[in-house]
Amino acid sequence: MRLITELSAWRCFADEQRGLGRRVGLVATMGALHAGHASLIQAAKDHGDVVLATLFVNPRQFHDGADLAAYPRNLPGDLATARASGVDCLVTPTLAEMWPSYPAPTPTTVSVHGLDEVLEGAGRPGHFDGVASVVAKILAVTGPCRAYFGEKDFQQLAIVRQMIHDLAFDVDLVGCPIVRDVDGLALSSRNVLLGADARRRALALNRSLRAVESRRASASEHRATLARILGEADLDVAYAEVVDPVTFAPCADGDDGEARAMVAARVDGVRLIDNAPVTLVGREG
Ligand code: PAF
Repeated sequence: MRLITELSAWRCFADEQRGLGRRVGLVATMGALHAGHASLIQAAKDHGDVVLATLFVNPRQFHDGADLAAYPRNLPGDLATARASGVDCLVTPTLAEMWPSYPAPTPTTVSVHGLDEVLEGAGRPGHFDGVASVVAKILAVTGPCRAYFGEKDFQQLAIVRQMIHDLAFDVDLVGCPIVRDVDGLALSSRNVLLGADARRRALALNRSLRAVESRRASASEHRATLARILGEADLDVAYAEVVDPVTFAPCADGDDGEARAMVAARVDGVRLIDNAPVTLVGREG
């Protein structure tokens, strides 16, 4: 596995691979790698890509300094996981190269308006500007053929898709299914921050989604189910919503068809998100 820190060497590696007629597959991460990341890497390998993974804890997507400080970091573990998963090149860029002016604002920001105003965007001001800006820079330097993002961050996936479309990045975006632990908790780098009791209570996120996924109901019935199950688990719920999976507009009673249930909660100060597809049936009459 090649290990690269400098932006020029990173660009050079991707150029060389393209020059050799290979397809570069990008897996962008903030580290604390787990089986969810490994599944993205595997998806890239299944496509026959040369896998370039980035590891950069992007401060611009944290609006809360304490959240940034607490974000798990484990470089030795990440190197081992990246190697074992078959990453061809791991890029760990420096803050000075990614955001030279940080902590002062960077003059250029990529914003995906509309999608960034609801759910995660409403609760974490500036979060999606930080995500879109860093992903744009990573795509610009890498020039991948395909980029692999997980559906666990379903709103992030939609924002990246919109940005790729609007800025005409020449890359195929591949959305990959959520990976869950045996107890059903969606894998997240933040899970290592959960104590045993918090982890047990956090399972309500998955439980609430399984309850709505398995039945057809109106939007408000689904919302009530989500709220009831999360409410029973003593979580600090940020949202429990049923939205259009493309526009993220809240669904109304009377809407039919496919929608997305989106939940977020703080569990002992650790913010967790999860989501699942749901089917809506509009009320009769
Ligand atoms: O999903 C993440 O880990 C981050 O938001 C990403 C896409 C690597 C950008 O920093």
